[in-house]
Amino acid sequence: MSWDGWRDMTKTSRWLDSAVAVAIVTLVVVARSPGIIWALPANGTCGSVPCGSGFDGSWHDFVDGPAGLLGVFEVVNGIPVPVGQCTLCHTPHVALQTALLWNHHLSNNSQFTWEANATTMAGTSYATIANTWTGPTAKCLSCHDGSVNAVTINWFEGVTPPAFPNNETCTTTNGVTTCQGPQQPVNVIVGYAGSMMHSHPSAMPYPCTGTRSTYNGVTTGAAIVGTEWVGKPVLPIRLYQETNGVVSRSPSAGCVAGSAGVECTSCHDVHNRENIDVNLLRGYISGGGSNYICNECHSK
Ligand code: HEC
Ligand code: HEC
Ligand code: HEC
Ligand code: HEC
Repeated sequence: MSWDGWRDMTKTSRWLDSAVAVAIVTLVVVARSPGIIWALPANGTCGSVPCGSGFDGSWHDFVDGPAGLLGVFEVVNGIPVPVGQCTLCHTPHVALQTALLWNHHLSNNSQFTWEANATTMAGTSYATIANTWTGPTAKCLSCHDGSVNAVTINWFEGVTPPAFPNNETCTTTNGVTTCQGPQQPVNVIVGYAGSMMHSHPSAMPYPCTGTRSTYNGVTTGAAIVGTEWVGKPVLPIRLYQETNGVVSRSPSAGCVAGSAGVECTSCHDVHNRENIDVNLLRGYISGGGSNYICNECHSK
């Protein structure tokens, strides 16, 4: 089945199908390999639901998921209204940015950098990532650098809620007491204080078809070895492309040579659709084979 077909199926039938597929594969493998116990990698958990089962109940579902942000309310005409599943990141009107209708306040760090003058072995300079970079990386860092509270958003009507302490705040409006919180910064920090040191390149060029790309102001170094790269990584991996500062995702058939780039979302799926392992990963964290996350791009 194509990935598109796979994604278009309902979550339930996807899970039934994958369970049936795993059962069949297990039977075939066991039948063909007498004496050898083959342990097929199982899908991990991405929040309170299996990886790849969709957004409901996953790490970034701040209503039904395990992130501990249940009970964020807005008072509308005296009535407490719970925040919606998508609102901490997207809102249909009065969003903070048109791109992705983004609604979470950007990082308090105006930019993210690696060590000064650091380059990869290919000679690619590590990028400077502005907090206003239009690719997904800046969006992830708006929560994951730890500088902005996860619930620091605008409400639907564009009003910024008051600054939150890290514990519950209760207010009484028209006789209705509403508690917001507990408001927590994310526990898992990437890009603390604007430093990307010791992290894999992101918002950086990808050598699509083995050739050099320019992305986020950086061009792949001249020493890139084209044959040591997957020419056109396909789903579940996702690459991006940049045209005049505007980032869009690459067609599902691969990437666009010359302008391809890698973002946090190349390796992670924030909506838990394409994940096949822990950490919202678009590949396996361990083991071997083409689904091992590093092999999805690096041909070593
Ligand atoms: C934690 C933040 C977060 C939450 C919560 C979230 N999204 Fe997203 N969404 C993103 C990011 C980041 C991107 C861009 C990266 C990508 O496409 O993977 C995105 C992209 C999108 C896109 C445009 C790209 C596409 O896939 O078509 C749509 C539509 C979307 N989200 C809908 C939703 C809906 C609907 C919900 C709630 C059920 C939701 N999102 C919840 C962060 C989030
Ligand atoms: C609105 C804030 C917010 C945004 C935006 C956001 N995250 Fe998260 N993320 C969280 C929270 C909260 C958790 C739950 C774990 C925690 O409390 O730190 C989480 C969990 C995760 C996890 C799972 C950690 C684990 O232990 O398995 C990963 C991976 C992750 N986020 C990556 C991303 C990526 C990549 C993006 C951008 C596409 C992103 N996040 C955008 C708030 C956010
Ligand atoms: C090249 C692939 C790749 C890219 C790009 C990438 N990650 Fe990850 N990420 C991983 C892998 C693999 C893991 C699991 C191993 C680990 O925990 O270090 C992970 C783990 C995480 C975790 C969970 C860590 C924990 O301790 O539970 C978070 C949160 C996260 N990444 C966020 C991000 C953010 C934000 C970005 C963009 C700035 C990003 N990642 C870019 C591959 C990637
Ligand atoms: C989505 C594609 C993608 C995935 C998946 C990926 N990488 Fe990379 N990796 C890149 C890109 C792009 C670069 C920068 C290439 C350049 O221009 O030098 C890079 C660079 C590197 C470098 C080189 C740094 C240097 O100094 O030359 C190492 C090492 C590396 N990645 C390891 C990993 C590991 C380990 C994993 C799995 C956890 C992984 N990568 C997964 C795309 C990817």
